[in-house]
Amino acid sequence: MPCSALPCLITSASSFFQNTLSADSSPAAKPLAIISGGSAGLGLVIAQTFADAGYELILLGRSAERLEAAQRQLQAAGSAEVQWFACDATDPHQLRDVAANVTDRFGHLDVLVNCVGTSDRGRVCDLDASRVHQLIDQNVIATLHCSQAMLPLLERCGGVVVNIGSLSGKVGARFLGGYNLAKHALAGLTQQMRLEWREKGVHVGLVSPGPIRRDDAGHRYKDRVDDSLPEQAARPGGGTRVKGLPPERVAAAVLKCVRRRRPDLILPGYLRLLITLGNASPRVGDWLLLRFTS
Ligand SMILES: NC(=O)c1ccc[n+]([C@@H]2O[C@H](COP(=O)([O-])OP(=O)(O)OC[C@H]3O[C@@H](n4cnc5c(N)ncnc54)[C@H](OP(=O)(O)O)[C@@H]3O)[C@@H](O)[C@H]2O)c1
Repeated sequence: MPCSALPCLITSASSFFQNTLSADSSPAAKPLAIISGGSAGLGLVIAQTFADAGYELILLGRSAERLEAAQRQLQAAGSAEVQWFACDATDPHQLRDVAANVTDRFGHLDVLVNCVGTSDRGRVCDLDASRVHQLIDQNVIATLHCSQAMLPLLERCGGVVVNIGSLSGKVGARFLGGYNLAKHALAGLTQQMRLEWREKGVHVGLVSPGPIRRDDAGHRYKDRVDDSLPEQAARPGGGTRVKGLPPERVAAAVLKCVRRRRPDLILPGYLRLLITLGNASPRVGDWLLLRFTS
């Protein structure tokens, strides 16, 4: 979608937002969650999980069509209170508009799930700066700007931010281009946010899943895999042997992170031990990673 179209979307989504909300002007009795990247993939499953848990939802994404489709899907499943806002989460101005609108309508925010992000394929020797900038924008800057914009709302009710990381933010992996670099940066940002925002009463957690099951897994990154990479590079996690996770399981972990204020969840859980081992002994860590991705 061209960037120039986004202000229009914000305007039209804003009037949609107002129209929908003015239908019920009573104060929100339900807790409110914003899911950035909530119109597709894991974000949409997280939205469904939070709706089932009694949350009122606001979905963020760039495409109004995808957001509308997600809203219809959630409403068809019985989740009546779903709003959306078309915006680019890497743009702080658009996020300030979203925050202003949420402030006017709700006055607070219980949960922010930062689910915008994208993976990569390639070798480090071929990685160029422009690709690194794109990955950092999507995986780190979007989370930073969205969290900064929503912080005053979260502070009002001691809310929770959950950032969606990846196993690639915990350990190295082969053939994932600049994804590791971006998710490691996100893991560092998350801990720094948690330490700083603790005094504001806002909890910040990280959920780091391995490859997630989905219909298009194995095809999504084919255009980034050329002859210089093995065929396995196109597979989930660059061909790692970790079994694909059901997205519902990851979404349940996000809800657990909110309810129990957990700082850091890794899925599947058994990998935490291996990651700890690898941190204690990088030699063992490299050996394990080579075995898991051979
Ligand atoms: N899939 C996996 O196997 C896996 C494994 C571990 C971790 N993760 C992490 O889980 C998260 C979701 O991954 P996914 O594969 O489910 O993603 P996905 O299917 O590609 O969906 C991405 C969502 O984010 C939105 N989005 C993308 N860029 C945006 C932007 N700049 N501003 C606002 N919205 C934006 C998309 O809508 P629009 O395109 O309309 O904007 C869409 O709703 C990512 O952080 C990813 O790194 C995924």
